[in-house]
Amino acid sequence: MFILARKQLLWFLSFISICLINLTTLAQPDFLHYYCENDGNYTADSMYKSNLDTALSAISTTNMGLGFYKLSIGKWNDKVNSVALCRGDINADVCESCLNDSIAMLPRLCPNQKSAIVYYDSCFLRYSNETILRSTRVKLYTYLVNLLNVTDIDGFNRALGPLMKRLREKAAAGGSQQKFASGNTTGPDFLTFYAFVQCTPDLSQQQCSDCLEDAVNRISVYFNGKIGGRILLPMCNFRYEAYRFFNQTAQDITITPVLQSSLPIRPPSPSSPGMDYICLLLGNILNE
Ligand SMILES: *[C@@H]1O[C@H](CO)[C@@H](O)[C@H](O)[C@H]1NC(C)=O
Ligand SMILES: *[C@@H]1O[C@H](CO)[C@@H](O)[C@H](O)[C@H]1NC(C)=O
Ligand SMILES: *[C@@H]1O[C@H](CO)[C@@H](O)[C@H](O)[C@H]1NC(C)=O
Ligand SMILES: *[C@@H]1O[C@H](CO)[C@@H](O)[C@H](O)[C@H]1NC(C)=O
Ligand SMILES: *[C@@H]1O[C@H](CO)[C@@H](O)[C@H](O)[C@H]1NC(C)=O
Ligand SMILES: *[C@@H]1O[C@H](CO)[C@@H](O)[C@H](O)[C@H]1NC(C)=O
Repeated sequence: MFILARKQLLWFLSFISICLINLTTLAQPDFLHYYCENDGNYTADSMYKSNLDTALSAISTTNMGLGFYKLSIGKWNDKVNSVALCRGDINADVCESCLNDSIAMLPRLCPNQKSAIVYYDSCFLRYSNETILRSTRVKLYTYLVNLLNVTDIDGFNRALGPLMKRLREKAAAGGSQQKFASGNTTGPDFLTFYAFVQCTPDLSQQQCSDCLEDAVNRISVYFNGKIGGRILLPMCNFRYEAYRFFNQTAQDITITPVLQSSLPIRPPSPSSPGMDYICLLLGNILNE
């Protein structure tokens, strides 16, 4: 009873804001969302600030080749942990330029804040005085929803479910350098749905799987019947759409469901990428 009441209270308190993002006009260096974590402030002459500067100037050298960056600088109360991750399908140039943008931007977006995170389409950057790696603490779910509806919600869920499950299993089984999987499946109305899922590769297989399962389970709650959407968390994220929005790789998964009709109907052209996105930002706490 108490837990339920507390959860409901959290729910009630947790709606922070709703914003509209027009992806058509989103320029490359624009971020999708940022969040100042309110873990306390540092002052301009502090050791924390100096460690943060050092971490941000050096983090781009920590990539082992697959777009995962991590660097901790300093000790005790002044320790700065920083982590950055690029999308698994983008090339090194796009990744580095996204990281550069985020490094320049985040301290400006959250001035004097010890902990902050910024999400771009191609990467994210987070720093904190709290432990980041292998932590599953979530303060904020960022939801981005494509406003177009599918016509057959049940068929859509039946198609997307198995794809997301396969992608989750594959990403979670990825190594300590990369946990990413992408693929497509045929949905109702002869639409092809494309999706990717990703975890920060520091997570264990179980942590990655749990994070993605929790996020993917929210599709039917928040995105039910929406043709595209993504959920961004500090340690895992996914996106699905009815058009290709990632670079195809040889490792892509494809799921061909048995369709009711075997008539050779030409698929309609996929929806355009330029849909307005609405983002719902929801504070919430996992595992606490
Ligand atoms: C992070 O900073 C906040 C505010 O200064 C402090 O309360 C918290 O204990 C710090 N966390 C760690 C792990 O040092
Ligand atoms: C930190 O700074 C922000 C913005 O300057 C302010 O709103 C917030 O209250 C400060 N937090 C603390 C714990 O002092
Ligand atoms: C896909 O790959 C091409 C060629 O490597 C690259 O130019 C493009 O930026 C990539 N797309 C994304 C989203 O990174
Ligand atoms: C990123 O920043 C580093 C250091 O300032 C610079 O050497 C590099 O050329 C930049 N990379 C891109 C792709 O902008
Ligand atoms: C999608 O469906 C919802 C609820 O039925 C409706 O309010 C909304 O206008 C629809 N959106 C579009 C773009 O048709
Ligand atoms: C789905 O993915 C498979 C495997 O990469 C690929 O061969 C196929 O062309 C993709 N289908 C579509 C419609 O993009």
